[in-house]
Amino acid sequence: KIHPVILCGGSGTRLWPLSRKSYPKQFTHLMGAESLFQGTALRLSGVQDGLSFERPVVVTNSDFRFVVTEQLAGVGVDPGAILIEPAGRNTAPAVLAAALHLHATDPDAVMLVAPSDHMIRSPDVFRQAVARGLSSAAAGHLTLFGIAPDRPETGYGYLELDGAAGDGTVPLKSFVEKPDADRAAQMVASDAYLWNSGIFLFRVRDIVAAFEAHAPEVVPPVSAAVAEAEVDLGFLRLAPARWKDAPDISIDYAVMEKAQGLQVVPYSGDWSDLGGWDAVWRESERDADGNVAGAGATAIDCRNSLLRADSERLEIVGIGLDDMIAVAMKDAVVVAPKGRAQDVKNAVSALRDKK
Ligand code: GDD
Ligand code: MG
Repeated sequence: KIHPVILCGGSGTRLWPLSRKSYPKQFTHLMGAESLFQGTALRLSGVQDGLSFERPVVVTNSDFRFVVTEQLAGVGVDPGAILIEPAGRNTAPAVLAAALHLHATDPDAVMLVAPSDHMIRSPDVFRQAVARGLSSAAAGHLTLFGIAPDRPETGYGYLELDGAAGDGTVPLKSFVEKPDADRAAQMVASDAYLWNSGIFLFRVRDIVAAFEAHAPEVVPPVSAAVAEAEVDLGFLRLAPARWKDAPDISIDYAVMEKAQGLQVVPYSGDWSDLGGWDAVWRESERDADGNVAGAGATAIDCRNSLLRADSERLEIVGIGLDDMIAVAMKDAVVVAPKGRAQDVKNAVSALRDKK
């Protein structure tokens, strides 16, 4: 049995203005009928492809708690627990809180940590990869899923493999989180590196031990916050007075870059973290001219551009655009060359500062 742990606290600012602080990208209908969060929950539920999933543990914050319950109900997934963080502290405290919650009942349980905002078009291929990682996790290794890189992405972690990829897992030689552009280019050029998918498989006891060894400062505030959590309308509210002392750090920096004996499952299925409008363009179906123009959008003499109107009765027309993104919502519009799509994030902070 696998315990899915779904991380659902990010704000997804690079997909503004569709993704908002109060309703970030994992809950929006970015592509397809289900939200990315619903897709994640469905992918890891019930019995599928020979794997059997427990009810998921969702880690989120107060603002999203009702969206989480509504969207789970919408796809018929019953949560095992919904942990509410009093404040965002990045992924290390979130993962540790879920692990300690499960530890109380079963320290040998295997947990699968999944971000809520990834798109995986072939869930069966993904589950086969999970199945290949199970014996490694059961043997006490922190197990990661690596994707073959196709560009020098600086927003990802890189996994240096110690040996060739075969059928099972490959030992990890080193983990490099968010390299600079030069380093990323070197790693993509070498075939010894895979991207870190941000999906992790391990036993509860092993991740707790890894925190104790490599990020001991995270343990006391998080364990106190879990121990003193309050049940509130079916949510488990982590104790704010304890949680405030939890450091703000990702699991990649806190644990994965430092821990030993990690194993990697090379995963060759499709995967995207939809980390910007450029990625949405890349992952969407395009017309013969390479454009993505959905309902309400008209592309005239455009090439390789994304045009999107996300409000009823709103029309967007692009004329003669090349490699551009234009996304219009009722109250906000963003227009940029595709190569600058990542800068949307900076625009959002600039707007926030202005207010
Ligand atoms: N509950 C909770 N609380 N969830 C959080 C928090 C938090 O404070 N912060 C982030 N998350 C969730 C996000 O919603 C997302 O689903 C997931 O955790 C990962 O966080 P990101 O902020 O998106 O991480 P990243 O994309 O910068 O980097 C990670 O993912 C990459 C692949 O997409 C790393 O693991 C990289 O190494 C990896 O390559
Ligand atoms: Mg991400």
